[in-house]
Amino acid sequence: MINKNFAFKRFRRLRYNPIVRDLVRETVLTKNDLIYPMFVVPGKNVKNPVKSMPGVFQFSIENLVEECAEVRGLGVPAIILFGIPEQKDEQGSDAYNPEGIIQKAIRAIKKEINDLLIITDICLCEYTSHGHCGVLAGEEILNDETISLLAKEAVSHVEAGADMVAPSDMMDGRVLAIRKALDYKGYDKIPIMSYAAKYASGYYGPFRDAAESTPAFGDRRSHQMDIGNINEALREVETDIEEGADIVMVKPAGPYLDVIRKVKERFEMPTAAYQVSGEFSMIKAAGQNDWVDEERVMIESLTSIKRAGADMILTYFAKDAAMWIDKNRN
Ligand code: PBG
Ligand code: ZN
Repeated sequence: MINKNFAFKRFRRLRYNPIVRDLVRETVLTKNDLIYPMFVVPGKNVKNPVKSMPGVFQFSIENLVEECAEVRGLGVPAIILFGIPEQKDEQGSDAYNPEGIIQKAIRAIKKEINDLLIITDICLCEYTSHGHCGVLAGEEILNDETISLLAKEAVSHVEAGADMVAPSDMMDGRVLAIRKALDYKGYDKIPIMSYAAKYASGYYGPFRDAAESTPAFGDRRSHQMDIGNINEALREVETDIEEGADIVMVKPAGPYLDVIRKVKERFEMPTAAYQVSGEFSMIKAAGQNDWVDEERVMIESLTSIKRAGADMILTYFAKDAAMWIDKNRN
């Protein structure tokens, strides 16, 4: 009776019943995995849509606070904050101005909402008139001069109330400089999430609209990593850990799943991945055209990043994903 093609191993046994499928699912996205990037601008009552990022806005401070309450209400535990200052200059001085846009925004959020983790992005490109991530000598971005300013920026954000800092500049030695500066001021309990393996990626295009940080000339290839390199990513991560990084990040996420996996396996550190603006906007655009089912592709992209080894994901989909989780799990 037994057909010679009888299948002893029937993987499908576990696929017929949705309850069984849930029982055997290996990777599950939760709200605690999500960090929501937000943009704050000067002014009153501003809620500017970012054209290349549907559903993402630049908020003035009071609107940002309101939005943060909504984000927290949805169960998203953390945000990463980007500031666009009133005045940009060569040194990016608003980044470390106690009355700067980020510092004011942090204080305003903390006054109203006490259980939302505030991470701040540490870089100068949103604050410099030339849009580069550091101070310039001619067209060169100076490393060591820049890291002292980044350390000042980190201290200033923490003094305003930031819970964690995330250097995204890719200068050498910045994690150590920031760690020392924070410890010197008594902030030894503030963790550093370093953008450890950050690639010179085409996927940051929409973000530069949102953060108004497109470089006036040239590009970021003198500090961000070459897209083909993975061994170098491991050296970058190793160095950041030695310098005191508490969480290491790979960025972008989707196109660099191999890097996430290798970093997680090699270092066994808390590992973050940034699903960047271009990854978000491509899914949005295809969804809006009905070329793909946006919700399914969103969850699939986030689950893939987690499956690759990320413990947490910075994503513009954080609110949507939290709503999806509410709708789909009881
Ligand atoms: C600042 C910074 C960038 C991003 C995060 N921090 C832009 C860049 O390096 O040009 C990109 C985030 C995104 O694309 O969503 N250095
Ligand atoms: Zn930068």
